[in-house]
Amino acid sequence: MLIKRKRGWEIAENRVTPEGAYLKRRELVRAMGLGTAALAVPGIAAAQGQDPSAGLYPAKRNDRYGVPTPMTAERQATTYNNFYEFGTDKSIWRDAQKLEVRPWTIKISGMVEKPFEIGFDDLLAKVQLEERVYRHRCVETWSMIVPWTGFPVRSLVELAKPLGSAKYVVMKTLMKPSVMFEQKDTLYPWPYTEGLAIDEAMNDLAFIATGLYGKPMPKQNGAPLRLVAPWKYGFKNVKSIVSVEFTDKRPVVFWEKLQSSEYGFWANVNPQVPHPRWSQATEKPLGSNDRIPTLLYNGYGEFVAGLYADRKAEKLFM
Ligand code: MTE
Repeated sequence: MLIKRKRGWEIAENRVTPEGAYLKRRELVRAMGLGTAALAVPGIAAAQGQDPSAGLYPAKRNDRYGVPTPMTAERQATTYNNFYEFGTDKSIWRDAQKLEVRPWTIKISGMVEKPFEIGFDDLLAKVQLEERVYRHRCVETWSMIVPWTGFPVRSLVELAKPLGSAKYVVMKTLMKPSVMFEQKDTLYPWPYTEGLAIDEAMNDLAFIATGLYGKPMPKQNGAPLRLVAPWKYGFKNVKSIVSVEFTDKRPVVFWEKLQSSEYGFWANVNPQVPHPRWSQATEKPLGSNDRIPTLLYNGYGEFVAGLYADRKAEKLFM
């Protein structure tokens, strides 16, 4: 691949912009009096309050998978994001506010009994929302612990009624270059695409999140709905989903298409398997100055390791 300038995926993010430096830059911007009001997170909270689904939050917490601590500060998790459609640095949260999340339609297609489209609020009426506190481990080695609200991916699969021959579920982000301006950069294989094997999708841990911190999902975190598969690297968690397709062929997903020597389909967290350019042994929780050990399957092995017993020949950890 001919690459003229260094791109986001070429350098470990933790080497590009240490979070401390990034936050200092934000403080500097604020001290200079630039856009102080627009930077205020309360503006986002107000938008969440006006969301038509606001009355559904907060939902009852399900602690079956534990309640890891310490919880990441809401401000950290909502102002330090990866959403390449809005730019390749972490400070995209303000640009992401331009994303319109109503009306929002999700297309269910491929190997299903009958393809259909469903509005996001109609989908919400068909599922049971609950809150789960999950660990999140980015492949770039930062991590967070946040309370998602949503429903198991399984509920979506059951609504979709896939054929017995379907083996994978593929999810895609909205394509809207006029707002998601980075989609004009044809070097990336837009739209952002991710997927799970059907048995992974049916595992109760696999979650569709529609909210965060007891409120509708902030746009920068993937409103109105995004995937959360907490035993996998964070890039699996495709945001702002508009397409759910069932297939018998394993998809080539966004990062894999871009750099298959570094990113694959399974992407399960494993501290023993380094990324080709950096170690995955430890991680830096957002808001902390310390590094902590990374856990196999991000600490969720007892719930998901069995999925891979017959897949040992696969590249499960990249
Ligand atoms: N989904 C889309 N559409 N675009 C992205 O750039 N980044 C992924 C994932 N989902 C990404 C995405 C990566 S690398 C991570 S770590 C998580 O979103 C970050 O989620 P957060 O911003 O809510 O912490």
